[in-house]
Amino acid sequence: MKIRTASRTDKDDISRINLAAFPEEENKLISNLATDLLALKTTPITLSLVAESEASTVGHAAFSPVTFTNCESIQGYILAPLAVKPCRQKTGIGSSLVEDGIRRLSKMDVDILFVYGDPKYYGRFGFSAAIAEPFKPPYDLQFPFGWLAMPLDKALAKEWSGPIACVPPLCNPELW
Ligand SMILES: CC(C)(COP(=O)(O)OP(=O)(O)OC[C@H]1O[C@@H](n2cnc3c(N)ncnc32)[C@H](O)[C@@H]1OP(=O)(O)O)[C@@H](O)C(=O)NCCC(=O)NCCS
Repeated sequence: MKIRTASRTDKDDISRINLAAFPEEENKLISNLATDLLALKTTPITLSLVAESEASTVGHAAFSPVTFTNCESIQGYILAPLAVKPCRQKTGIGSSLVEDGIRRLSKMDVDILFVYGDPKYYGRFGFSAAIAEPFKPPYDLQFPFGWLAMPLDKALAKEWSGPIACVPPLCNPELW
C-alpha cells in the first residue's frame, strides 16, 4: 500500500470512496466536500492524500489550513474528511493516511492539527479534547466531544486559544 498526494485525476475515485464509506444521510455532502477540497487552491496548501493498493485507490484524507482570529503566527490544519473503502477498512489504511498527513504537516512546520471525529479512533494518534478545548470551532457542534486537536509543536501549544476559521468548503454548518 502506498500513500501519495492526490491530483485532479483522482477526483472520481475520491468521490466514490467517500460515497461508499459514509452513511447515506451525509455521503453526498462529504463527497462534495472531498472533491471541493481537492480543487481548492490555498496558501499554505490544502493537502489531499490517497492510499493506493494494487493499482486501485482504497482511501482518502484531506488536510486544509485553518486560521486563528487571535494570532496570525500559528499555523493550523484540520483533517476532514477521512475515508477508507468499506471492504478494506480495519486493515490499517486509515491509520497510514493520518500518520502520513501528520508527518507531512510536521515537515511544513504546522503547529496544531484539528479533527472533528471519534475520540476513540483519533486518540491513538495523539488527538485530544483537552488540546482542542481552548479553540472555538466555526459552528456549534452536534457532538462537542468529537472536537479534538493534537499539537505538532509541543513547546508552543499551551499559549494558544481563541476562535478558528476554516476554508470555504468547510464553512457549512451541516458538516459540524
Ligand atoms: C474511520 C475510518 C477512516 C478508519 O479507517 P480504517 O482503515 O478502517 O482504520 P484502521 O484500520 O487504521 O483502524 C481501524 C481499526 O482497525 C484496527 N486495525 C488496524 N490495523 C489492522 C490490521 N492490520 N488488522 C486488523 N485490524 C487492524 C485498528 O486497531 C482499529 O481497531 P478499533 O478501532 O476497532 O480499535 C474508516 O473506518 C471509514 O472510512 N469509516 C467511514 C467514514 C468515517 O467515519 N470517517 C471518519 C470521519 S471523522
